[in-house]
Amino acid sequence: MDKLGVFDLNKIYEGNCIELLKKVPDNSVDLIFADPPYNLQLNGELYRPNQTKVDAVNDAWDKFESKEEYDKFTTLWMKECHRVLKNSGSFWVIGTYHNIFRVGAILQNIGFWMLNDIIWIKTNPMPNFKGTRFNNAHETLIWATKSKSSNYTFHYHSMKVMNDDLQMRSDWLIPICQGEERIKVNGQKAHSTQKPAELLYRIIISTSNPDDIVLDPFSGSGTTAAIAKRLGRKFIAFEREEFYVKISTERVEKIKPIEKPLLEYKVEKRKPKVPFGNLIEKGFVKIGEYLYSKDGKFSAQVLADSSLEGNGIVGSIHKVSAYYLKKENHNGWTFWYVKRNNALVSIDQLRHDYETKYLKSFQNYDELDFEDNSKVNEPEKNFLTYGNNGL
Ligand SMILES: C[S@@+](CC[C@H](N)C(=O)[O-])C[C@H]1O[C@@H](n2cnc3c(N)ncnc32)[C@H](O)[C@@H]1O
Repeated sequence: MDKLGVFDLNKIYEGNCIELLKKVPDNSVDLIFADPPYNLQLNGELYRPNQTKVDAVNDAWDKFESKEEYDKFTTLWMKECHRVLKNSGSFWVIGTYHNIFRVGAILQNIGFWMLNDIIWIKTNPMPNFKGTRFNNAHETLIWATKSKSSNYTFHYHSMKVMNDDLQMRSDWLIPICQGEERIKVNGQKAHSTQKPAELLYRIIISTSNPDDIVLDPFSGSGTTAAIAKRLGRKFIAFEREEFYVKISTERVEKIKPIEKPLLEYKVEKRKPKVPFGNLIEKGFVKIGEYLYSKDGKFSAQVLADSSLEGNGIVGSIHKVSAYYLKKENHNGWTFWYVKRNNALVSIDQLRHDYETKYLKSFQNYDELDFEDNSKVNEPEKNFLTYGNNGL
């Protein structure tokens, strides 16, 4: 059984997420999706013009004494999420106008770095029954990373393919959860705010990888866990109501994961390779310094043209490592280390640092200039074709 600290993975745990999150190890989760209480503060009941009662969110889990209490609660759970998220991870939080602006401000104060806000446009929103306001037809999602320098996952090309070869936009047209997808108990909605499977599908497929760990602190009907399992991710979810834990566990048990080969991201371009010379040009490796094998047995000096000289032999990082190992070829990236603060640091790690620092902006450049986005301003193709039950 896969573990995450004291927890078994692929399980929905009952309890207060603030307490449960405290038991999750630091930097251990790849993706968090949080659909926290909205703090709707509805007063009284709402009726349609034909006097039938509107099924609005009026649950005990959405009751807070004041905005300050809500902010305190938000800060507590979100700080824990920040702690447990890997530096390469993604944090998603969804809300309505009632809470998303408070949540967004707190998120930035904690240190998350915002990448996008996504507008989920509901193709079939509940009407404004009183006719006193615009029809509230969307919710807002915030996509953020742990910090500005996070090396996060984003399957850009897959998202583009998903959107008929146009850049996936930040306005997503998805119907609210209804029909067969909606979990019912004795003919009644089992959960008042079950999110559509498509929404979680798009989030998880775009910003995580198979086998990644997905965490949902406010699991409700278990949509995140269900879609994470379907997409070959590991999951852990927290929910304070016993009844929801029961129905969501039953829901998730019925899910069959998609076969591994079908989950591969084949349209994603490989990152451009970083040649050793780039590390020298940017000062990650200094001309004249020595590189060492991990056991310290071998060393070679870096020359100005990026070659290494050791034991009278001159050549690339690969050639000189192969020479020492008496092999025809060898991958120098895994052989050589530099000394930094009396410790050995792999040049492969330096290459990774280089990618984090320089290639993320390259990716943006790529998006802006090399893609055919001439039709980028056309409205997104309706995503409905995916269908609720295809997931
Ligand atoms: C907006 S709903 C989430 C719905 C979910 N995304 C779905 O698709 O079903 C929020 C859920 O968080 C739960 N909840 C509220 N406060 C909690 C807390 N402190 N710890 C754990 N769960 C909590 C509620 O019981 C509710 O089921």
